[in-house]
Amino acid sequence: MRILVTGGAGYIGGHTCVVLAERGHQIVIADNFSNSSPLVLQRLSRLTHKVIASHRLDLRDRDALSSLLETYRFDAVMHFAASKAVGESCERPLDYYDNNVGGSAALLQAMNRAKVRRLVFSSSATVYGDPQRVPLDESAPLQPCNPYGRTKLMTEQMIGDLCAADPMFNAACLRYFNPVGAHPSGMIGEDPSGIPNNLMPYICQVAVGRHERLSIFGNDYPTVDGTGVRDYLHVLDLARAHADALEYLADTGRNLTVNLGTGRGVSVLELVRAFERASGREIPYDIVGRRPGDVAAMYADPSLAQAVLGWRAELDLEAMCRDAWHWQTTNPDGYRALERIRRIPG
Ligand code: NAD
Ligand code: WQD
Repeated sequence: MRILVTGGAGYIGGHTCVVLAERGHQIVIADNFSNSSPLVLQRLSRLTHKVIASHRLDLRDRDALSSLLETYRFDAVMHFAASKAVGESCERPLDYYDNNVGGSAALLQAMNRAKVRRLVFSSSATVYGDPQRVPLDESAPLQPCNPYGRTKLMTEQMIGDLCAADPMFNAACLRYFNPVGAHPSGMIGEDPSGIPNNLMPYICQVAVGRHERLSIFGNDYPTVDGTGVRDYLHVLDLARAHADALEYLADTGRNLTVNLGTGRGVSVLELVRAFERASGREIPYDIVGRRPGDVAAMYADPSLAQAVLGWRAELDLEAMCRDAWHWQTTNPDGYRALERIRRIPG
């Protein structure tokens, strides 16, 4: 299939491009590089042995988007492009509604006009908010507790309304739990700008010496060791689920909303210990107060993904830590080092 990948230069979109190319799909990336480097594209071409077409484009630029959809006759769209920092979404909610909901509305409208009727959307487990019980299956109440989560739920609803209005339009909303890790080649990985908000990239930066110590946000939760429990899944397992979901849409013509996680809850301390084993580095840490908005435990019931897509996570915590560490040591400054090399004259 010929697939438009919005946000394809980003962390999850980039890994998914590799899997899609391996399965023989043709990819076109549209990204405004607001949270990624164009240099990722060279890495993607080297990894896939293919030239990946890409366009610098903001989804909210409706004219540019329409002409892109007119130029290529896409069979499907994978929609990753969004802003994703929970804290920032509380500080600048309107920017998040504009980019995530507005960008998605512009995309759906352009797809509708160009008669592109297959969509895989990056949703998030954050749509569940503070869970009443775990594991979470897809019927759990949808009560996001921050603007970012609400943008994801609103986009799911917008997609659902379009599917109801146009039975030819098929969509999969994939609710990711906590994606971590990197491609085992070490060529692409997560490259947060500034101080990382998320646990795994922060641990990696402590291990490589960019920060002295990890702050663990609370050890008084009702969990196995008092620290927060999450469902970490390898980004390559997640990428594979996108290709599976696309094939499901094409084969069945049905719609789908599904959790993507391992089903296994892992505490902050368990992740720290696993990372220490995989890297051979000690991760010094301090226990500090809880982070506002955090929940005690959140992990998936992934049985629907298994039943419907035949998908389940295959890569374990050791592989997640090993590949995250490999990416970090191969690229201690992320893609920024490549940008510096490019700027050296001659
Ligand atoms: P990312 O920031 O690495 O990738 C997003 C990409 O979209 C970036 O390359 C960015 O430049 C681009 N982008 C943003 N707004 C755009 C716009 N208006 N027009 C064009 N391009 C735009 O993030 P990621 O971690 O790869 O996340 C991908 C998707 O998955 C996002 O929708 C995110 O909300 C969702 N998600 C991520 C996580 C996670 O923990 N990483 C968890 C659940 C859901
Ligand atoms: C994991 C655990 C922290 C950092 C967020 C978003 C969610 C989704 C994924 C997009 C928690 C603890 C963290 C640190 C710590 N993104 N922690 N020290 O909060 O589960 O989910 O990213 O959709 O929407 O909310 O992930 O990696 O931030 O935190 O102790 O420096 O690690 O308290 O228990 P979270 P996280």
